Formats: sequence, C-alpha cells, structure tokens
Amino acid sequence: MLAEIFQQCKDQWIRSKHQKKHPFRTLTLATVNAAGVPQIRTVVLRDFDAQKMHFVIYTDDRSGKAKDLLLQPQAQLLFYDAKKLWQIQVDASCIRRSSDPKVYKQIPARSQKDYTTVLAPGTPIDNPEDVDYTAENPHFLQLTFEAQRIESLKLKRPVHVRSQFTRKAGEWRFQFLNP
Ligand SMILES: Cc1cc2nc3c(=O)[nH]c(=O)nc-3n(C[C@H](O)[C@H](O)[C@H](O)COP(=O)(O)O)c2cc1C
Repeated sequence: MLAEIFQQCKDQWIRSKHQKKHPFRTLTLATVNAAGVPQIRTVVLRDFDAQKMHFVIYTDDRSGKAKDLLLQPQAQLLFYDAKKLWQIQVDASCIRRSSDPKVYKQIPARSQKDYTTVLAPGTPIDNPEDVDYTAENPHFLQLTFEAQRIESLKLKRPVHVRSQFTRKAGEWRFQFLNP
C-alpha cells in the first residue's frame, strides 16, 4: 500500500503538467527569509521529474523567494487536493537556479511579460495600471527543487492514512505514521 501511495503522488504530479485545472498544478512554497521568518506563497508547478523527484518553478530573479533560497536553499512544497482531502508536504532543497534563454523562449509571450517589469516585484506603486515593461534582460529564473522527504496525508473513514517517504543514499524508504 505504501508503494501504491508513493506512485499515486508521482502520477498526480505528472498529470498536473498537462491538466491546467489539476489541484497539484499550484502549490504553496515555503521558504525562510534572512530574519528567519517563514514566507509562504502560491506558485505554479512547471515541471516534475519522477525519476529524480525534481520539482521546477519559474519566478522573477528579484523576488523574495529567489533571495530567500540563496541564503537558505531548504524549502517546503505543499500540495492539496480539496476533493480527495489529500495533502502532500515535500521537504526539498533548491539545487539549481537557471535563467536559460532557451526555456524562456518557449514560454508564451503573455507569460514572458511577467518577468520583464522595470521595477522589482513588491516595489510600491500608485496605480496597478502603471506597470512598465522592458524588452531587455528578462528577470526570468527557473528554480529546481530536489525532494528529500515526502509526507502524504489522506483524510478518510474509518482511518486516516499518513505516510512518509524518505530518501536515504539514493533509495526511497516508506513508512506509515500515526495520523
Ligand atoms: C495562482 C497563482 C499562481 C502564482 N504562480 C507564481 C509562480 O509560478 N511564480 C512566482 O514567482 N509567483 C507566482 N505567484 C505569485 C506569488 O504567490 C507571490 O505573490 C509572488 O511571487 C511574490 O512572492 P515572494 O516575494 O515571496 O517571492 C502566483 C500567485 C498566484 C495567486
């Protein structure tokens, strides 16, 4: 059953790559800032590698998360499927930062724009319509996270099922936990 749950997690992350409305298409990314304060926000899962257990997101290289991860690469990814009452927490480390122009060119033009604002994300402005864009030097950043530990919790009757998957020396170990 543990192997089945682990496989289900992987299957759903793979599916989310092609299904825009999949509940795992977005996740909550938790980082820790320079003051040691937790920071959480919603991001889109752009890619998932089931072999390596790598998760990829895109962001602006001036964003808070990009700065946090430079100082502290350890992060947590939270996925939630409200229909299945299924939560997955992924302890992961940001192992790669890339601004590869080849990846950037594959993004639809309207999404590319998100990484070309003149002002850094979070800069105070007077009017939401007043956002200037530049054609030069996009601030596109691809972040890759490698999972070290995964915890799945399925709320159901008669018993809730809580399971842990831990990577040890390249192998994944499976364990049920008391819910
Ligand atoms: C549905 C949704 C999807 C989002 N996807 C992303 C994303 O893929 N990458 C990103 O950097 N920000 C994304 N955001 C914005 C972040 O939640 C956040 O507000 C912004 O990145 C600034 O966060 P930071 O300063 O903590 O880095 C998304 C927001 C929403 C509501």
